[in-house]
Amino acid sequence: MDIQHEAQAGGSRAWTLVVEGHFWLSNDGLAAHAGGLPTGWDDELLCTWLGEEPIGVLTYRVVKADREAVVTLLYVEPSSRHTGVAKALLAALVARATQARLRRVVCEAHVDNAAFVKLLEVVGAKPLARLFALEIPSG
Ligand SMILES: CC(C)(COP(=O)(O)OP(=O)(O)OC[C@H]1O[C@@H](n2cnc3c(N)ncnc32)[C@H](O)[C@@H]1OP(=O)(O)O)[C@@H](O)C(=O)NCCC(=O)NCCS
Repeated sequence: MDIQHEAQAGGSRAWTLVVEGHFWLSNDGLAAHAGGLPTGWDDELLCTWLGEEPIGVLTYRVVKADREAVVTLLYVEPSSRHTGVAKALLAALVARATQARLRRVVCEAHVDNAAFVKLLEVVGAKPLARLFALEIPSG
């Protein structure tokens, strides 16, 4: 699988897939925060390419003070799912984090995002925190 790293997600040829991913999550109500954790222009990017086409993206930022890599988006375009693209992107990030002597890779997952939660379980991620919401009836 051809995975490439770019120091800045903004302006990358894969940026359209990043935007598509954020739309996908918010349309499905699966953004982990109310406003989602949107990819910043300066976030780093790992992208899986099929020829000239980006088929999977993982954006993240390094929080040096915490020695963490925080995933801001993981998205695989629908026709390429279930082929190990996301797993390979996460593995590539773990390899980079290891090289950079970081402590961990952190991801937010909406409780209803069964596919992502399962993926995180499969790769051995452990829950760190729970995010609670008090819904406003008229909201
Ligand atoms: C979640 C997502 C990234 C998974 O991508 P993917 O490339 O299809 O995942 P992989 O092929 O690497 O799957 C690895 C494992 O994750 C689990 N998994 C992936 N998709 C799953 C699904 N729909 N249901 C249950 N388990 C799933 C499986 O255990 C799978 O292993 P297997 O294929 O051997 O059974 C993809 O469905 C997606 O882009 N969803 C929309 C965006 C999103 O939810 N992103 C996460 C929040 S930022």
